[in-house]
Amino acid sequence: MRQPTVIAPSILSANFARLGDDVARVVSGGADWIHFDVMDNHYVPNLTFGPMVCEALRPFAGAAMMDVHLMVEPVDALVPSFAKAGAGLISFHPEASRHVDRTLALIREQGCQTGLVFNPATPLHWLDSVMDKLDLVMLMSVNPGFGGQTFIASTLPKLREARKRIDAYMRETGRAVRLEVDGGVKTDNIAAIAAAGADTFVAGSAIFGSPDWGSTIASLRAAAGLRPS
Ligand code: DX5
Ligand code: ZN
Repeated sequence: MRQPTVIAPSILSANFARLGDDVARVVSGGADWIHFDVMDNHYVPNLTFGPMVCEALRPFAGAAMMDVHLMVEPVDALVPSFAKAGAGLISFHPEASRHVDRTLALIREQGCQTGLVFNPATPLHWLDSVMDKLDLVMLMSVNPGFGGQTFIASTLPKLREARKRIDAYMRETGRAVRLEVDGGVKTDNIAAIAAAGADTFVAGSAIFGSPDWGSTIASLRAAAGLRPS
């Protein structure tokens, strides 16, 4: 029951001196979403950009959705700002919110889709009580904070487990939930990642570090395929 493949380039690996142009170019190269990594030097040991930059880039993204990945603590105060800045989906880490259910409700109230993000060592049991409030489950396949890290292999069995839970939920309710993977996704491992159940793929260094972003996106999409569930 995988959803159609989505490729979400992470602009963490774009050129920060010309972000608007890079967003427009990667969208014309076939990006479905723009993955926007927000880091606060508190929840993660790095610092990137906030809602003002998201708002400035939104017009350059055209039809591509802004997929805002919050690696910040606390979470709630930034949710309305990112909703106003044009986020389509806002995801956050459960460890960073005192009240996960409240944060999910807030994201929906603000008119955005919701995502819950699992670090490599975060157990999936957080899903037990909130699946009905989620539009997307995201598994980190690196520790959050930096682009260009190596894919952690234990993410594959974890993806299979998440896929099972999502499929059971979708069978029961008929409502679609996406399964996104973030970190170390490349043209040579995306087929195995898709086979483990992911349908939504973040790729930063693989796309922005390649000479032809459009052909890399096409290769990623072709290798991910769309297998029947
Ligand atoms: C890491 C970020 C990722 C990262 C992906 O904290 O959430 O989105 O930038 O970059 P690559 O594809 O280079 O691992
Ligand atoms: Zn990310």
